[in-house]
Amino acid sequence: MSPTPPIATELGSAHFLAADSDRDAVVRFRTTGRLDRPRADIVLATLRATAHGIYEASLDGQPVTESVLNPGWTAYEWRLAYQTFDVTAQLAGGSGADLRIELLLANGWYRGDLGFARANANYGDETCIAAELVITYADGSTQTIATGQDWIAEGSGIRSSLYNGQTIDARGGTTPLVTRVTDIDRTTLFAQSAPPVLRHEILHPTAVFTSPTGRTLVDFGQNLVGWVRFTLQGEEGQEIVIRHAEVLEDGELGTRPLRGAEATDRFILSGGVDTFEPTLTFHGFRYAEVEGWPGDVDPDAIEAVVVHSRMNRIGAFECSEPLVNQLIQNSIWGQKGNFLSVPTDCPQRDERLGWTGDIAAYAASAAFQFDTADFLDGWLQDLRAETEHTEGRIVPLTVPDVLKYANFPDGFTLPWHRATAVWGDAAVWVPQALWHAYGDRDRLASHYPAMVLHLESAEKDVSPTGLWDLGNQLGDWLDPDSPPEDPAAAKADPSVVATACLYRSASFATEAAEILGEEVDAARWRRLAETTRAAFNEHYVNQGIVFSDCATVYALAIAFDLLDEPDRTTAGDRLADLVRDSGYRVTTGFAGTPFVTWALSETGHIDDAYRLLLERECPSWLYPITMGATTIWERWDSMLPDGTVNAGDMTSFNHYALGAVADWIYQVVGGVRAAEPGYARVRIQPVPGPGITWARTRLETPRGLVSCDWQVDGDEFTIVVSLPEGVPGELILPDGSPTRLVEGEVSAHCVLDGPRIARARSHQSWTVPSSSRL
Ligand code: BGC
Repeated sequence: MSPTPPIATELGSAHFLAADSDRDAVVRFRTTGRLDRPRADIVLATLRATAHGIYEASLDGQPVTESVLNPGWTAYEWRLAYQTFDVTAQLAGGSGADLRIELLLANGWYRGDLGFARANANYGDETCIAAELVITYADGSTQTIATGQDWIAEGSGIRSSLYNGQTIDARGGTTPLVTRVTDIDRTTLFAQSAPPVLRHEILHPTAVFTSPTGRTLVDFGQNLVGWVRFTLQGEEGQEIVIRHAEVLEDGELGTRPLRGAEATDRFILSGGVDTFEPTLTFHGFRYAEVEGWPGDVDPDAIEAVVVHSRMNRIGAFECSEPLVNQLIQNSIWGQKGNFLSVPTDCPQRDERLGWTGDIAAYAASAAFQFDTADFLDGWLQDLRAETEHTEGRIVPLTVPDVLKYANFPDGFTLPWHRATAVWGDAAVWVPQALWHAYGDRDRLASHYPAMVLHLESAEKDVSPTGLWDLGNQLGDWLDPDSPPEDPAAAKADPSVVATACLYRSASFATEAAEILGEEVDAARWRRLAETTRAAFNEHYVNQGIVFSDCATVYALAIAFDLLDEPDRTTAGDRLADLVRDSGYRVTTGFAGTPFVTWALSETGHIDDAYRLLLERECPSWLYPITMGATTIWERWDSMLPDGTVNAGDMTSFNHYALGAVADWIYQVVGGVRAAEPGYARVRIQPVPGPGITWARTRLETPRGLVSCDWQVDGDEFTIVVSLPEGVPGELILPDGSPTRLVEGEVSAHCVLDGPRIARARSHQSWTVPSSSRL
């Protein structure tokens, strides 16, 4: 049994250290300790640290962890994560009685001028760091070395900013600084539970070429998040500049979409062999412009390092349509790049914020691709803390909410102190997606208080009509028909959207309260849901026609179950007409997009859903892929068909929200669904449609691997399914016939009759022992 670290308090022996230096300068704090006993006697050594800022710690010149950008971004005012690294092997494997500890401290998110470069939002003027190393020896004695006034502070020759990039001078050279002991509110400290940020793939250039104006450009073939790393030797003092961008415009680096983010790294050569890796910043890019490289850029010497929070890949989907497969790949890359410590809108421009609406739209899709349980749980703890402390106890538009410190010029404001549908509904919809995917009751209980606050704040903007029609709304944000400069000007009436969202949230809150045994609350939310539904129908629905009559309002009314028959059928037919009339081009924004294919497939319009999915003209899900996209774009037309970049102020090429169709692809095309939370029961129900002749889906659920392969040959539909041991399930064939699934691999088939399903002819053909399953 390994000994338990003798640390009773959180960084109790450590002082927080600060040093005055110019803003972007990275400060190094260091000390040399003498070990009490020989290194061979060390049985356990842990280094615990955190910072207001971001830090890197090393012992005897070696990093203590592979994780980067620690302590990550949380709602720092109430929650500051500390990390504990096991450094036993590192210390025991070293030599000598002296021990060198170094800590680099950079701005990171804490003092990072976040929230649009022009808004200069940050948490404070002072960055600081604390660390303690606790060593246990074989004789039971312990030794602690902790940050204190005796540590040396110096300028490190490194400068860094998340938006603007990092500068590293390999010639070394330090400037002496004065160590100042400071302190923070230590009640904010907690042991990190969310996954750390790590390096993942290493990508090599797919091309190095010269732009029309003579600049050297490197294409990494994939829009990614991380940084460029390289090793080379050149003249001492030579500066190499790397600029980053997601796209090319006129053959040059397209930096306009980055707005105020310079996204530029600078490296100054020492004259020897240098390896540069800017780990105190990150960029969203596919292309890098390299300036100052001695001679021709050597493609073997330069690489892109992909960085994101640790998440296991759990889902896979493949089908007969390569563009849909690329859409799923783009969604996966979008998730990687935007699950970096917090779920962000985008990773490249002067924003990179935890916009709540984006993850509200995307959380269900995210849970089919990666295990998001710990990552999103951590973020929801921040959401709860922010909401409990926000004026009016509303869910902020961004979590962590650094925007509350923003100093916008020109009187620009955001709807601060009123609840906002979709964005605020993240407090309910993200826990709902987690509950569905993982079925963790304790976590649901910890997410429940923020659901309550959201509903209470939304209720304040419900007018006597019972509609959520007061306050500010972002509505069906980025409706493709909205003008580039006014993304909230959607076809869908914002109060119809808000009222539908309120119904969905009140309904899930009812379910959550029931699960948690909160009977009084359950009755309260059930009442709210019922009155909201009644008001919606009374004011917005006329014989199945929903007010503002556009795809988004039908998508929400149907998918959220706001309509009774015969209105539901009428609404489904009207939605299908609208979708057909638009030539299968997408007409929905953030609110409607995750639900439009669901609403079609749930009302008998599967063919239209497939045609919408498979459309290639702009705007559509596949259009960006025909333009070479490798991530999901913020706008349906972030790049216009003529290759120019959308003129709007917000034009990211890595925004996951509109990729929220992935959830429907995995469940309806792929056929893998949770019949009970956490896949305690599985339902396999693929619905084939025109344009796709086979699909293979794999999902590593909390209870094991579920797989489903189907194909259509003429009018014959064949399926092979496998469930984890001991997990009950059912198979619903496209002809509607149910089959109870038993352990092992099961195959079945039925006959399809054109687009409609006719004869019910299915059977379970064989069962094989679980050991031979896929
Ligand atoms: C972000 C969006 C976000 C929106 C809300 C944008 O700048 O990039 O994704 O949800 O603002 O206002």
